[in-house]
Amino acid sequence: MLKRTKIVSLLSAADTMPEVLLKGWVRTRRDAKDFSFIEVNDGSCLKNIQVIANNNLPNYDMVKKLTTGSSLAVKGALVESKGGSQKYEVVANEIEIYDIAPDDFPLQKKKHTDEYLRSIAHLRPRTNKYGAAFRIRSELSYAIHKFFHDRGFRYVHTPLITGSDCEGAGEMFQVTTLDLKNPPKLPNGEIDYSQDFFGKEAHLTVSGQLNGEMYAMALGDIYTFGPTFRAENSNTTRHAAEFWMIEPEMAFADIYDDMDLAEDMVRFCVKHIMDNCAEDLELFNKFVEPGLLDKLQNIVDNGFARITYAEAIEIMKKSGHKFEYTPEFGIDMQTEHERYLAEVHFKRPVIVRDYPKEIKAFYMRLNDDGRTVAAMDVLVPGIGELIGGSQREERYDVLVKKIRELGMHEDDYSWYLDSRRYGSVPHAGFGLGFERMMMLVTGIGNIRDVIPFPRTPKSINF
Ligand code: 4AD
Ligand code: MG
Repeated sequence: MLKRTKIVSLLSAADTMPEVLLKGWVRTRRDAKDFSFIEVNDGSCLKNIQVIANNNLPNYDMVKKLTTGSSLAVKGALVESKGGSQKYEVVANEIEIYDIAPDDFPLQKKKHTDEYLRSIAHLRPRTNKYGAAFRIRSELSYAIHKFFHDRGFRYVHTPLITGSDCEGAGEMFQVTTLDLKNPPKLPNGEIDYSQDFFGKEAHLTVSGQLNGEMYAMALGDIYTFGPTFRAENSNTTRHAAEFWMIEPEMAFADIYDDMDLAEDMVRFCVKHIMDNCAEDLELFNKFVEPGLLDKLQNIVDNGFARITYAEAIEIMKKSGHKFEYTPEFGIDMQTEHERYLAEVHFKRPVIVRDYPKEIKAFYMRLNDDGRTVAAMDVLVPGIGELIGGSQREERYDVLVKKIRELGMHEDDYSWYLDSRRYGSVPHAGFGLGFERMMMLVTGIGNIRDVIPFPRTPKSINF
């Protein structure tokens, strides 16, 4: 029996073929006197294949009813294309129609805005732009796994439901099976979580790092790659409530090893996409971010700039640039600062390290100056923060002191502290926001458009 061939293979075939079977969705149909041209796409690549349906087909009257969005199977000959931009087309011997889409199919052949397409997120992957974006997303996931696998990192699956708050920022979604209308109460009026599903309060994780660290203390080099959840009520183009994060963790590593790994990973992944998604990238270079390919080549070819937080503040102070928030030592850098450094000052990615301890998470290693921690952020043009990481505080006493200072519940972290009790070693890691990497690689400006079904404040359709 004849097997289906994907359009990507047909279009790159070495030679013509007497009989092929293709399946896909109609993009357009044009009728001539004795035949019709049907542009078919099956999602395997950006390009459509042109099918020629002659009027001697037994169901030609139905073929002439094929609309945009209809689905079909075509048996025919792969022949050299006479006109057109493509090498091959298919002359149909047989067309099986699966479904004729009614005229209200929302993706008629015209330009649609991103806002409109977001309202039909379940159909948008059938457009050129979103098809390309999500093929790239798939390839980028593979690149991440390949990068770490080739370096001997083990892939660890950390839990999504958690009893601890990794970032201590209190931006967590609660998980409960209690009756919200009538929760069980303690005598003091507080909710009695001992009666909840897990017997205590539970949340969706904001990061797999704490669990990841435990596995680095056993397997050496590990990484996670999974969904994370943040109830940040910030309606920006760079924040989603559900996003995917990659978190490597290395035993016997310091902040400099961490920066090297981050830079190598970004450059490897960008190169992988340039090498493997050229056709899809070209679309983004043409229609979404002119100059995208030059920007990406620049990332592959040139090392990242590296400065301390204190140096970054000095650069911005001396710049004469008007910032909304005045740069001063101690501020939590805003997107405007991050973008100024990467886009305007360095014109390439820059890694900023040694941030004031007050603005960073509890697990980061205190530097000898007593006022900064061994944290590093990778800032990139167009986006700002792409990666956040640090060398971890491996000294038991220093870490416990910090946990107490911050008023965190020490008991909740006793398992985490065990790693500092039993064979503690210097270690470091980081978190890469996968959607932000997608934005960097495609030039797409809104995080809602690089994840299939975005979850953001007041929006959970599909
Ligand atoms: O800087 P963050 O908060 O770091 C951590 O979570 C650490 N535990 C990582 C680690 O050291 N293992 O988040 C890491 C990255 C950010 O740099 C950003 O790219 C992305 O995650 N990110 C978000 N992406 C989309 N939407 C959000 N709401 C995000 N919050 C963070
Ligand atoms: Mg961060």
